[in-house]
Order: sequence, then C-alpha cells, then structure tokens
Amino acid sequence: MDRPVPYESEINALLARMTLEEKLGQLQQLAWTGDTGPGEGQARLIESAAREGRLGSVLNLHGARRTNDLQRIAVEESRLGIPLVFGLDVIHGFWTTFPISLAQAASFDPDIARLDAEVSAREARSNGVHWAFSPMMDVTREPRWGRVSESSGEDPYLTAAFAAAKVRGYEGEGGGPIASDRMAACAKHFVAYGAVEGGREYNTVDVSESRLRALHLPPFRAAVDAGVATVMAAFNTLSGIPAHANAHALTDILKRDWDFDGVVVSDWAGVAELIPHGFAADPADAARLALNAGIDMEMVSTCIADRGEELLANGHISAERLDDAVARILRLKFRLGLFEHPYTDERAEISAPSAETRRSAREAAARSMVLLKNDSRSVSRDRLLPLSPDITSIAVVGPFADSTDLHGAWAGPGADAFPAVTVTEGIRLAVPGAKIGYAKGVESEGGGEATPGIAEAVAAAEASDVTVIVVGEPAGLSGEGGSRSDIGLPGEQGELIEAIARTGRPFVVVLTCGRPLALGPWLASAPAVLVAWHPGLEAGHAIADVLFGAVNPGGKLPASFPRTTGQVPIHYNHENTGRPCGPDHQDPRYGARYLDLDHGPEFPFGHGLSYTTFAFGEPTLTTFTLSAGELLDGATVEVSVTVRNTGDRDGDEVVQLYVHDPVASLVQPVRRLRGFQRVSLAAGQSTTVRFTLGAEDIGFWTNAPEGEFVIEQGDIHVYVANSSQAEVPMRTLTIK
Ligand code: GLC
Repeated sequence: MDRPVPYESEINALLARMTLEEKLGQLQQLAWTGDTGPGEGQARLIESAAREGRLGSVLNLHGARRTNDLQRIAVEESRLGIPLVFGLDVIHGFWTTFPISLAQAASFDPDIARLDAEVSAREARSNGVHWAFSPMMDVTREPRWGRVSESSGEDPYLTAAFAAAKVRGYEGEGGGPIASDRMAACAKHFVAYGAVEGGREYNTVDVSESRLRALHLPPFRAAVDAGVATVMAAFNTLSGIPAHANAHALTDILKRDWDFDGVVVSDWAGVAELIPHGFAADPADAARLALNAGIDMEMVSTCIADRGEELLANGHISAERLDDAVARILRLKFRLGLFEHPYTDERAEISAPSAETRRSAREAAARSMVLLKNDSRSVSRDRLLPLSPDITSIAVVGPFADSTDLHGAWAGPGADAFPAVTVTEGIRLAVPGAKIGYAKGVESEGGGEATPGIAEAVAAAEASDVTVIVVGEPAGLSGEGGSRSDIGLPGEQGELIEAIARTGRPFVVVLTCGRPLALGPWLASAPAVLVAWHPGLEAGHAIADVLFGAVNPGGKLPASFPRTTGQVPIHYNHENTGRPCGPDHQDPRYGARYLDLDHGPEFPFGHGLSYTTFAFGEPTLTTFTLSAGELLDGATVEVSVTVRNTGDRDGDEVVQLYVHDPVASLVQPVRRLRGFQRVSLAAGQSTTVRFTLGAEDIGFWTNAPEGEFVIEQGDIHVYVANSSQAEVPMRTLTIK
C-alpha cells in the first residue's frame, strides 16, 4: 500500500491504548433482534458489552433515540469511549421501498441503483443506521435460489455496473469520508454465493479459478474500486474451503491484490458455522481459521472474542493480524465521522417517505419492468398494450391484484410501516372513469382444493373490455432461505390464467415476482405479458403507468427465463459445447439439448419489448486490428452504431455490446456483455451510441491458481444488439 493510510496516526494512537479485551471487543458485532438469521436476538448482552468496551458494532436496531441511547453507553461509560457502528440490511429502501435489486438491474440504468442508495442512506442514517449490508452482488445463474431477487442477475458486467453505482449512492463519490447523510456500504457475499449447487440455499460451491475470476469477482472489484467500506463473507464453501476461512479469496485477492483497506465482516454466525462445515474442530479453531484468513469482524457468533486471548497466548493468531483487524474497524468509524459525531440528530430523523422519494420509487419501478410479449391481435391488428386510457370497463383479477405483498424480500422497515400501492388502486386512479371489476380468483400459494374463485374471476373478465391478471410470488418465496425446487407460478395461478384465456376476451398477465419463473403452457395464449418483479412501495402506480402507456416499458431481462425448472441452469453466457444446438445445428438427438424441450430459454438475457420499435445500423469500429501489447498498454477500440426509433411513440432502447472469442486456449462463452446504454428516443429520432473495448473486454482469466489474465492472438467477434440472442451483423476485430 504505497498510498497514505487514512487516519493512520489516530488509529495507531488508539491501538496503543487498547487492552487485549478492548481489541477483541471491537471485532464483535451483536444483533439487537434475530430478524435476519437463525436463533434469537442478543439485546440482553449488548448494554453491558458496550459499557465494558467489549463491543464494536450492533445490527438490526434503528431509530435515532434508540441508537443514541446505546451509543451514549459506549462513548460516555466505556474506558476509551470508542463509538459503536450500527448496521442494517438496507437492500432496496429504508422507508421508501424501491423495486428489488433484480428489478433495478432490469432497468439497465445504474442511476436507479444510485438513487435508491442515496434515498436509503438519507432515511437510514437519520434513523441512526451507519452501515448498509448492501449491495449484494452475487452473480447467479440459479433462479431456483431465493436470493436471485437481491442479485443483479446472470451477468458480471451488468452486476459490476450496478454494484459500483450503489456503493457510490450509499457512500458518496471517491472512497473518502462518508458524510452524515450517507452510509457505509457492504459488498456481499464474498464470494460466489450465487453458484450454490442446485440453487439450494447455503449449498456447496465448486468453481474453477477462471470462472471465479470471470464471473464472480468482477462486481467486487468494481465495488472496491468505487471505495466500498466493507465486504461481507459468504456462507458457502469455495471449492472445499469455506469463504469465511478462505485466505486465497479474503487475503490474497481482496486485501493484497486489490489493496482493500476496509472491514471484512462475517455473515450471520458464519465463523461458528465453520464447525458444521467440517472445517473447524471447535470455536477456538473457527476463530483462528477465520481471523487468519482475513475476517475482521464477527457477526453474532462470538468465537473470536471468546477464544482470542488463548489463541494469541499460544501463537495461533498474531498480534499483527489482530491489530490489523482492529485498525480496519477503527478506520471505518473514522470514515463515518463517528469519533467526532457519534450521535444522530433526533430532530432531523426522517419518519416516512416523501412525495419526492415516492416519485423516485415509482419511476424506478416503471423503468425496471420488462415487456415479454405484446402480440398483435388477429382481429384489429393492433397490440393489446398500452391499454387505452378511455377504457370503460376493466377486470383486475388474481391473488396479487389487490395485494400489498409487493415490496419483495429484504424490504426495510418501510415494508411494514407503509403498505405498497395495490394494482387495483393504481388502475383505479389511472382510469377514474372506468368500471373496475375485481376478483382474487385463487390463493397465491397452496391450492389443490376446488378454487371457486376462478368462476368469479371469469365472470369479471366476461363483463369487462380487458382483464389484467396479476399473478406471481409472495415475497416469502423469495430472498434468503427462499429456494424453490419448482419455479412455476405457485398454486392454481396458471389455471386461473387458462380459465380467463378460455373466455376469448383480451387479457394481459402482470407478473409480480422475485425471480425468473417457468411460466407454463398458458404463455402461448397470453396476448401480453409484463414482468413487474416486486416493484416496491409505488407498485400499483408504476404498473398502471406502464399498462396505460404513461411509461413506455424499456427494461430488459437481467436473467434468462427458462422454459421449465428442469432446464435450469440456462443462461446466455454459456459455452458452445462440441455439439451446440441452434438454427444450423439441429441433429434430432445428438445435441446439447433435452429430448422433451425446445432448445434455448423461454426469454433470453437482454430481452424486452417496447410500445415502439427500433432499428440498428451496422456497427463500425475505429480499427479492425490491434496487438495484444497495445491493448495491455491501454489501447482501445471504439464501436459505434446508430439506433432509430422507427415507431410512432417515444421510447427507450437498451443497446447492448457483446463480444465472443471463437478460438481460445480456454473455451469462451458464446457471448459476453461488455457494454450497454439505455437511450431515450422520440418517435422517428435516431442517435449514435458509442462503446469502448479495451483489454478487460478482450482478454480472459486462465486457471492459474494465482490468477492470470491473458490476451491471445486471433479474432474477436463483436455484436451490437437489443438482446443476447438477437440475430445482428457481426464485426471482427483481429488481435495480432
Ligand atoms: C443474513 C444474510 C446477510 C445479511 C446478514 C445480516 O444471513 O446472509 O446478507 O446481511 O445476515 O442480516
């Protein structure tokens, strides 16, 4: 680290005065409530630990008064008065709940993530919370995994863009001091948690070094480069070594190679869980393995605090490593200004969303929605969506039609305090002159019993010009511990859609969900399908904005929608295999496909329709040949393309840049996203979109244990498209 170490003198002065017990105390984080993990809260331990200087941090407590009361004990009653840092899962909102992170990624507009984080930081910090355990940046190809809802999907480049934007939104720019209306961010979960086998929560992860480097690490590197103050370790093993004790990841890569000087915090009891992992023999062993691998602060379990003294005495941990961990924690508190201003101004506490933050959440939700289908209707040739604002009668049916269960998983305190706007409410306000019929139809889960409600929903549909069917998942089937073995629509929701389809009346399906779903046979008969994800506080208004065309949908899928659960994993950035399937490889049997399923996803990564249409010109490159050396010296290639709105309505298009290395010493994915821009174009307007390709985009990581990045000679295929599977002209860049 040749750069000056922030707060070095203050930290060293404090370290020199601290007892061993006080040092070990800084490494301890306790939970006020047990809301976010197994077991119960530790509130009963916190006051005395704070008073005796044996506590560094508290999670799951908010409120200016309540946090100040605890802070006063730490600052005014403990021997050294070192302030506590308060942490909370502020994932997509505090009072103002924004759409879930997967939805935000679907906007392909990282500014939405930055805005969410800025609003959340103002609201949470005014309530005494200094540290958001966010952004989660686990790349995942596993829609069965409940935490896909917290992710930015299957692509590392998109995830990295959103990770960096969110870090800057929480902390401010530049990685320096964190202002009093901002909060420390946390890059999680380090690393490769999204690759849990079978999408089963907490399950084994076994990835090669090259896949770790190409898929899972880039978002964390982007977060570190953006100045992220903390990193949280992952629950999973990483090729046999638990992430909580993985020195290669935590120390070699994160702290040494990337020069990360912040705090590595364990996940909930992640240090103690080294024992059931079969990696540690007992709490002392767990403490030794975790601390020596690079864990700095222990969340909830107390192995390090309990056994640190004996470990130090018998030389199993070093004084240097202990002091380094304490220094990182003190540096976090200095960055947050807690030594000068440990207390929150109770008069400035924000207690509710504002009209402005509601507007931001509504816009974010609408921009995140993805129009999967909008077929032209045989009769009138026009497409079903957008619905006419002059509509006279509309039925809104389904278990989520009049539900407030639209915040999604990991919604903050706002989810309980401020109910989401329902879809019926949003539609009622959007078309006040229309007669609105409502029927729940079926439950959101379970079922099997006769569903008399379907008849009621059919009757509502037959009495209306159009029916909006709102189906999907409750938040409870999403998020941590929310892995599903079947990612179809739960319960009888599919039957409800099929019953409405049989009426022959026009209908649109709105999906409120936390993951890509295996949609089912009803899809073929649905004229229009809109993915709204879990849209957050302003759900109903945002959905109505899109349905009636106030907002022209411009979102794209950040994760592929499989045809069936059995097709998972299915993702765009796959290897070609020796027997690829596709338009020109259709051997009836001997191909990389399933006998009983069409090839390819139902809807691919990058897919999303609009109420208008766009045309792409031929991409041009500023050069078609370049040497590996020039690239490694920083040379770049500019790729440009014109895009035109060829329809009669203003709209957004997401222009996507993909590359493919067709011949390499390590087989490369058939496509890699290396650029995206969401552009807004008026009807008939065109623009030129420009991308830059550099070494990062052309080369790849080998399987060398310490990581080796190479650029090889040969061709690189370049595509500019509006989806990962669009058939577009290819350009070839030759690396000499
Ligand atoms: C949970 C989650 C983690 C969260 C932490 C604190 O188990 O894995 O993402 O930040 O515990 O709630």
